[in-house]
Amino acid sequence: MKMGLLVEIVFLNFCLVSWSDPTAALFNVSELFSVLSIGKTPAEKAAENTKFFLRLRNDPDADGCTFTKDPASITFCSFNVTAKTFMIVHGWSMSGLLEMWVSRLVDALHRKEKHSNVIVVDWLHRAQQHYPIAVANTARVGRDIASLIESLHKNFDYPLKHLHLLGYSLGAHVSGYAGSYLNSIGKIGRITGMDPAGPGFEGKAESERLSIDDAEFVDAVHTFTRGSLGLSIGIQQPVAHTDFYPNNGHFQPGCDLSNAYRNVATRGFFGITETVKCEHERSIHLFIGSLLHESQASLAFQCSDHARFDRGVCLSCTKNRCNRLGYDVARVRTKRSNKLFLRTSAKMPFRVFHYQLKMHFFSGPNEEPAYPSMSISLHGTRGDSHNVPLTRIETIKGNHTYSFLVHTDTDLGELRRVKLSWDGTSAWQNVWKQLSDLLPWPHESSPPKNIFLRRLRIKAGETQERLTFCSPGDTKLQMYPGVEYTFEQCQRRQIPRLRHRYI
Ligand SMILES: *[C@@H]1O[C@H](CO)[C@@H](O)[C@H](O)[C@H]1NC(C)=O
Ligand SMILES: *[C@@H]1O[C@H](CO)[C@@H](O)[C@H](O)[C@H]1NC(C)=O
Ligand SMILES: *[C@@H]1O[C@H](CO)[C@@H](O)[C@H](O)[C@H]1NC(C)=O
Repeated sequence: MKMGLLVEIVFLNFCLVSWSDPTAALFNVSELFSVLSIGKTPAEKAAENTKFFLRLRNDPDADGCTFTKDPASITFCSFNVTAKTFMIVHGWSMSGLLEMWVSRLVDALHRKEKHSNVIVVDWLHRAQQHYPIAVANTARVGRDIASLIESLHKNFDYPLKHLHLLGYSLGAHVSGYAGSYLNSIGKIGRITGMDPAGPGFEGKAESERLSIDDAEFVDAVHTFTRGSLGLSIGIQQPVAHTDFYPNNGHFQPGCDLSNAYRNVATRGFFGITETVKCEHERSIHLFIGSLLHESQASLAFQCSDHARFDRGVCLSCTKNRCNRLGYDVARVRTKRSNKLFLRTSAKMPFRVFHYQLKMHFFSGPNEEPAYPSMSISLHGTRGDSHNVPLTRIETIKGNHTYSFLVHTDTDLGELRRVKLSWDGTSAWQNVWKQLSDLLPWPHESSPPKNIFLRRLRIKAGETQERLTFCSPGDTKLQMYPGVEYTFEQCQRRQIPRLRHRYI
């Protein structure tokens, strides 16, 4: 073994074991060699084999019917050779047991596609190893899956395009290997990578990880692309035709750090793994949500990077630039990966409503720099959303247009009114607010800023609708901290086309 590889394995092992299971021993070299070495008893070899279970529609929790690539067993299990097939591939395992999400996904798939074959791939024995060993096992498990699919294809003329592999974490790369081993006979229909694993795969050649060559269509949902020491649990780079990055691929709502502290307080060290699991597993629950709530699919928007998305400038649906996350994704097959971004809420079905807010601030000649903290309230035909904070930007300069992303958890219908508050934060601003309540405006001598606003422009991502909101009388309003300003939807004739470039 090359020394570099060994060092890498020890390092990975240390990082992963230390956050996941503090009781696990550090890397055990003799264990690695025993796993890699041959000369096992037949019983040991049998236990290692990848197992396949055809799950029953009316009993998603039961193991289902065990089958192998032997055609007799495929017939025995009443595999429906004219129906679609889903194969669920789990990831690295600490417990050696299938996790709760497996039966939830099985059930959701059966609900969505009544006649489908839902197969759970059990490679627990090879997955419940130190992480680097489990990584080394992914290719072998991929080959086992490929040989089962090959048998279905040869003996029953089963079309490869009817197959959809769903792999979580390491299972995503297992699915990728399965797809690439089948390339000599054709391409499987679809692979969905649910937070494909990062360590051991990030930056690797396409042949050594999930990639767009592995199926006719590959999609991936990235939910935990952050970590310590430069190591991310989920892979950061795009690996699919369509790569979704909910909440920029990290910090999933409802899995936040404050929960982590609460978990640690109540559950000790395992509280940390709960939080890790929450974000990593969110990829699966987003997919399950898309199966169970098809009318409330989350929309995601193509964007070159999350900084641009955060400014709201990517909410476009022209030329396939937006897509539905999950089962009903539009299969846009491009030569290169596309990154799509979206916000989500903390609970199923997770959908939110995205808006781009554009504001052009005018300034007078004596402008001082402003350090605003602003929030808006949106009032629509179906509801209101109060005090949505705007992402902080360093300074607001006059005679510039600024763009922000805001989102709401509920459908507000068509927007009619927007209220903007410029929240005073510093001490003098608070004093100013108190003064402003007492003094009549405008006050010649001492306005703190010379910033004016006349209109707000909003683009709704979900409806692609653009609306403009005017100040009372459509005049330039001077902005003061601690004051709320109301803008009503303008009369159509008032709206000229916007020519400014936004910052
Ligand atoms: C390493 O693994 C082997 C086999 O599982 C075991 O016998 C040995 O005690 C382990 N060594 C350490 C240091 O944990
Ligand atoms: C097999 O699937 C097809 C749909 O592809 C369905 O029409 C048929 O009823 C299914 N057969 C059985 C025995 O469930
Ligand atoms: C903004 O434009 C107005 C009118 O054109 C001008 O009087 C003012 O000085 C400009 N402000 C800045 C900071 O350039």
